[in-house]
Amino acid sequence: MKIPFNIPPKSSNEEKYISQAIANKKLSGEGSFNKKCVEWFNKNLPTLMTVITPSCTSALEMAMVLAEIGPGDEVILPSFTFTSTANVVALYGAVPVFVDVDPRTLNIDPVAISKAITPRTKVIMPVHYAGIGCEMDKIMELANKHNIWVVEDAAQGIFASYKGKALGTWGHMAAFSFHETKNIVCGEGGALTINDPRLVARAEIVRDKGTNRQQFLNGQVDKYTWQDKGSSYLLSELAAAFLLSQLEEGEQITAKRQAVWKQYHEGLADLEAQGHLQRMQVPTEAKGNAHIFYMILNSVGERAALWAYLKEAGIQSTTHYVPLHSAPAGVKYGRVSGSMAVTDDLANRMLRLPMFADLSSQDVSLVLEKVHAFFKAT
Ligand SMILES: Cc1ncc(COP(=O)(O)O)c(C=O)c1O
Repeated sequence: MKIPFNIPPKSSNEEKYISQAIANKKLSGEGSFNKKCVEWFNKNLPTLMTVITPSCTSALEMAMVLAEIGPGDEVILPSFTFTSTANVVALYGAVPVFVDVDPRTLNIDPVAISKAITPRTKVIMPVHYAGIGCEMDKIMELANKHNIWVVEDAAQGIFASYKGKALGTWGHMAAFSFHETKNIVCGEGGALTINDPRLVARAEIVRDKGTNRQQFLNGQVDKYTWQDKGSSYLLSELAAAFLLSQLEEGEQITAKRQAVWKQYHEGLADLEAQGHLQRMQVPTEAKGNAHIFYMILNSVGERAALWAYLKEAGIQSTTHYVPLHSAPAGVKYGRVSGSMAVTDDLANRMLRLPMFADLSSQDVSLVLEKVHAFFKAT
């Protein structure tokens, strides 16, 4: 493959910090690099508490434990999302209730949320698709009116904001991903931000296998014991060392992605004007982080043909989620509220182009050239 879809970003101090972590002889989630990652969040994405977790999936799981969801509860989320968003709901015996997305952003539609709320609704999980913020002001208003928790799935949302407020600081909780496919990476990793005082004391226990070990470490008790349900939600110090280096250079990494995004966006304006495709949109209220560049083709057939054409040219483009309401586990554990027309249509017509921080402007030009050549030939 001449141009892969993704290459994880490289920052300056990963090896140095990992060596320091080894020299510190403290490799569990209580080490100094974990603390520095938390400090980075406190400074840049201030909430009441941040836990650096082994993945976004585990952060979402921890959020479900904190929200105490269980059989009989419902959680509203888009069908157009990654498996993890719904899986953590089913894992605790609650029902994922799938709603449709806004065609402008592929983000959850607040009107569809309002129609899906029942007395059993316990959580709303907005997913900031492609690093473009959901309409969080409307969602928080709905949630506060009905006394429902909001857990942002901000897996793709670092360094992005909505109405000037950072993604991951709007909801009662938010989960980030540092998987190698994301903007900021440490192989596998994530974070849970907690923004409601009712959740903080339990979070210290839940993150550490249900024990009051934090009180023991603080010298408040002389033994720690099992206090509540919990799990192992701390990231290894070696991965945290890698992550700190990435977070410290996150703004530069994001700026490089934004340059790639802009080149695609400008380079495809003519094809959009000619009616061949639609470029992804960024509403004026949202500041994106160039996590994804996608376009919407006119038909599923044209998407398949362009995908194959680019592959033949050595360019790895890709589709995205198979809507969860149509996946076997979605049918088994979830239910649909309202129409899924937008999700079903757009999931079939979207195509993502290669996107990573070190993608050169020459390679972006080559991708653009091939997309143009495809439409010339058709
Ligand atoms: C929207 C969304 N949620 C959750 C996840 C899961 O992230 P992780 O791999 O860190 O568990 C992803 C990963 O692709 C995602 O895109």
